[in-house]
Amino acid sequence: MIKIENLQKSFDGHDVLKGISFEVGKGEVFALVGGSGGGKSVLLKHVAGLMKPDRGSVTVDGLEIGTAGQKSLRVFRERLGFLFQGGALFDSLSVFENVAFPLNEKSNLSRNVIREKVLMELENVGLSGSEHRYPSQISGGMVKRAALARALVGDPEIMLFDEPTTGLDPVTGQSILSLIDACHRRLSFTGIIVTHEIPKVFSIVDRVIMLHEGLVRADGTPADFNESRDPVIQAFLKG
Ligand SMILES: Nc1ncnc2c1ncn2[C@@H]1O[C@H](COP(=O)(O)OP(=O)(O)OP(=O)(O)O)[C@@H](O)[C@H]1O
Ligand SMILES: [Mg+2]
Repeated sequence: MIKIENLQKSFDGHDVLKGISFEVGKGEVFALVGGSGGGKSVLLKHVAGLMKPDRGSVTVDGLEIGTAGQKSLRVFRERLGFLFQGGALFDSLSVFENVAFPLNEKSNLSRNVIREKVLMELENVGLSGSEHRYPSQISGGMVKRAALARALVGDPEIMLFDEPTTGLDPVTGQSILSLIDACHRRLSFTGIIVTHEIPKVFSIVDRVIMLHEGLVRADGTPADFNESRDPVIQAFLKG
């Protein structure tokens, strides 16, 4: 469903992605791991059409994202949910308004239907009763959960999660991963999770892709990963 072929990207002469290729099948969830600054967020932005490749391509269901026109990109983005690194709620909007935002922006649903969907999504992430609060009035874990609800409210077919648990305590982090897993079972989206939560994330993904020095260093199941003798992977697993 998502096909990445020889993806290359540099910034100011610094080669970040040097030829990345892998494919995520429909309904599969991949973990994308690797060192800080290795290009994980840059890769997700290419999948969402927020950055254009220097060379190579990202294709989703036959649509080449980097060269697609505005209209096809807009249609594509309606099928996509993106949890940005850092959560990034709108500070001036309540939790309810934040989660309703994508529905107000792109669907022609009635106010009542939007209200129902938002309240249901908030219930799914355990935030019932907090819909009238503002981001500054809730905890970091609640911000992440609200951002997750906002990413999921449009029932996306494709979900991109950029470090959904970073900055959270282990228990809250685990609960976010469990939420993502539960949402996947419910919606069966195709997903990529950028994460440092190794090995926790291994139980909820089909495959793991590891980026190292601009290339795919490893592409395999969590079991392949655990059994790998590659010193770079072993060092990474040990943290
Ligand atoms: N818009 C941009 N302009 C210039 N350089 C950029 C831009 N976006 C990313 N970079 C550079 O690309 C490299 C990869 O960044 P990226 O954010 O993808 O790393 P990452 O793997 O997500 O790291 P982290 O785990 O810390 O989030 C970094 O050196 C970063 O400075
Ligand atoms: Mg990043």
